[in-house]
Amino acid sequence: MKKLLDLITEEMSAAFEKAGYDKKYAKVTLSNRPDLCEYQCNGAMAAAKEYKKAPIMIANAVIEQLSGNSMFEMAEAVNPGFMNLKLSSEYLVEYLRGMEADTERLGCEKTESPKTIMIDYGGPNVAKPLHVGHLRSAIIGESIKRIGRFMGHNMIGDVHLGDWGLQMGLIITELKERKPELVYFDEAYTGEYPEEPPFTISELEEIYPTASGKSKEDEGYKEAAMQATFELQHGRKGYQALLHHILNVSVTDLKRNYENLNVSFELWKGESDAQPYIPDMVQKMKDEGYAYISEGALVVDVKEETDTKEVPPCMILKSDGASLYNTTDLATIVWRMKDYHPDEIIYVVDKRQELYFTQVFRCARKTHLVDEGTTLKFLGFGTMNGKDGKPFKTREGGVMRLENLINGINEEMYRKIAENRTVDEAQARETAKVVALSSVKYGDLSNQASKDYIFDMERFTSFEGNTGPYILYTIVRIKSILTKYKEAGKDASSAKLLPAHTESEKALMKEIAKFNSTMETAYEETAPHKVCSYIYDLANALNHFYHETKIMTEEDAEVQASYIRLLELTKHVLEICIDVLGFSAPDRM
Ligand code: ARG
Repeated sequence: MKKLLDLITEEMSAAFEKAGYDKKYAKVTLSNRPDLCEYQCNGAMAAAKEYKKAPIMIANAVIEQLSGNSMFEMAEAVNPGFMNLKLSSEYLVEYLRGMEADTERLGCEKTESPKTIMIDYGGPNVAKPLHVGHLRSAIIGESIKRIGRFMGHNMIGDVHLGDWGLQMGLIITELKERKPELVYFDEAYTGEYPEEPPFTISELEEIYPTASGKSKEDEGYKEAAMQATFELQHGRKGYQALLHHILNVSVTDLKRNYENLNVSFELWKGESDAQPYIPDMVQKMKDEGYAYISEGALVVDVKEETDTKEVPPCMILKSDGASLYNTTDLATIVWRMKDYHPDEIIYVVDKRQELYFTQVFRCARKTHLVDEGTTLKFLGFGTMNGKDGKPFKTREGGVMRLENLINGINEEMYRKIAENRTVDEAQARETAKVVALSSVKYGDLSNQASKDYIFDMERFTSFEGNTGPYILYTIVRIKSILTKYKEAGKDASSAKLLPAHTESEKALMKEIAKFNSTMETAYEETAPHKVCSYIYDLANALNHFYHETKIMTEEDAEVQASYIRLLELTKHVLEICIDVLGFSAPDRM
């Protein structure tokens, strides 16, 4: 279905033309004076310059063309030349009936030119637990992926594990210190390696920080770790077998954690998967004259004339020939292009990595790792801060594990749900988990991604205000009315949606009608926060309508059935929206 604003603009365009003016002036927007009108067109003001006439004359002439037009309940020109419009309730309800009839998509058309879009939004480091820094990437990335998918694009999420580099050498070194007898360390060993990993996830999570701590104090230890990393990267078999164990144990744990967040990835690739592509890539960059040696390192210049800040060269290899984070990201682009040929790659990463990605993208473009037609997009997110305005920490000042954060919110939500009520414990815990997830995700997504925000448990878990639980509460309210209606033995399935009876009902209808344009904008601007602010407005409109309307006691059966249809439609829109945000609603709360 066409967007409502476009339909109104089309009508306005015809009126401009009939009145003898260019239709380019006919753009209609939502009114910024809702007390006066619903929509407005300020085109007469601009047209006045071209036609050298008073704006009010043009406005009058255009409005005259709209007389008798069934789209509008009111169309008037006001000084000095504004055009104020109110949609007719008949027209509006017809639009909503169209949405209802399109049961799957509610009037939001899929794109005509689906793109393949890869989205890099995990970035957890193997052997290290997920911490709150990974939370934003997961939440925002998952939502962008779902929005894109809803719009009909082929979205491929890649977790891009940090599974290469010194951390692996550190783990190997520590393991060797603790259990030197393991076959992995015996270079003469030629047999099969055991299938059972020589550690559990909790051991692994303890081994890494211990090793990391030791390496900072003990030069020799650090050297051993670097040596182990080097040997691993150069194919030492026992170490590669260990890497597999580390990966398996870690990935199993990571999957469980992401699942709890309702986040999933199509690809579980890591930095290590890019390694095979490095030698050829580097060779090509050298052969084609892009890469040169500077202070021992191999670099590619990426600065541009228009730069206002210095953009240093992109380093491809260190002076000892070792590859870097950059090298891996560039080689990852190589396999992504080879295997998927994406139209776009979106990186959802901490905004502090922006300069780094500028270098990587420019280098990839300059050295032709990507085609002209492939867009590389950096979506940097801000920091999640504590109430003190500093990066979120545990009470003791350490890095907060994601798992602990989530458990804390689940607990808080359970407390709220169980408060003043006798509930079935198991069921209440289940509900608490669903609602808690909405509070974390909505709390994050309702902010523009690039901004820092304060993680405020009290506010996020509140059932009132601009929060996830408030949205869920609204859906649950609708569900309960629908159940009551059904329990009264009534059925609205073949009833007709009637034109709005009151202002609050019309206001709700107008919000519903914004669904398709909201989704389109959220996709185009990679902006899940637009979906959040939309559903907040929609939930407010629904609750306002609910308070002003006697739904269950309405005596006219047709009117009542129409209310029910409207509630169903609202619920449906809200459910699609929270689904693209990555959470769901319980039946009760
Ligand atoms: N593992 C990295 C980190 O913890 C994030 C990876 C982001 N993605 C990427 N393609 N570089 O900082």
